[in-house]
Amino acid sequence: MTERLQKFLARAGVASRRAAETLITQGRVTVNGAKVVELGTKIDAAADTVAVDGKKVELTEERTWYLLNKPEGVVTTLTDPQGRPTIADFVKPLGKRLFPVGRLDYDAEGALLLTDDGETMNRLLHPRYQVPRTYLVKVKGEPTDASLEKLRGGVRLEDGMAAPAKVERFDKAEANTWLEIVVTEGRPHLVKRLCAAIGHPVVRLFRPAQAGVAVGNLEPGTVRKLTPEELEVIRGVAEGRPAPPAELKLPPRRHRPR
Ligand code: URA
Repeated sequence: MTERLQKFLARAGVASRRAAETLITQGRVTVNGAKVVELGTKIDAAADTVAVDGKKVELTEERTWYLLNKPEGVVTTLTDPQGRPTIADFVKPLGKRLFPVGRLDYDAEGALLLTDDGETMNRLLHPRYQVPRTYLVKVKGEPTDASLEKLRGGVRLEDGMAAPAKVERFDKAEANTWLEIVVTEGRPHLVKRLCAAIGHPVVRLFRPAQAGVAVGNLEPGTVRKLTPEELEVIRGVAEGRPAPPAELKLPPRRHRPR
């Protein structure tokens, strides 16, 4: 079976398809020892030998990626000494050894990627890469323009200064307010601590998408496999490109009073 060279390179985990195209046009890729700079070139992974910068590309095992729409009341670990529900309840039925990409608090909801691709996972989480994390956050009361401006400017937390990359009002909710907050680091409870610092505690915290992969209509408490297009997006984000803007949609209303 033949496939495009850039697709093969992406599938082998060398780079995203776009970055693989650059490698090809830069003349860094050879097929059976001959340099190839044409983007349309097709290869047969079973028969051809592909190398990048002289190093043979091996097709490693395919990596697995899933998206969980994490419900509240679930711990982002595989076991919990207190016996609370954990994400293992969602991972086990998949029959694979998968790890969560970062964490969402026990009471937080939304997009949580699960994977066995440790390398890409580390790129998404490592502080050096400052991958943006977008949250829709319901806070108590109605923060004033001045409070939001203060938050934008950065606040001092017990583990140092923190400044969100974005803070905007998103929606009103009775006596509360939904904010869109983007941060570029993964310190524990960061969003909750930011909001508490301006006197507006978080009452609900939802992550509509992670690394460009949106929960969309995925029901809370369900898991789905990522599409090849989403895998491309994740690879791109791990390489430092911005995620395509995710549709920001509030989570379903809760049926109990808060
Ligand atoms: N910030 C928080 O406070 N909690 C989360 O789960 C994620 C970000």
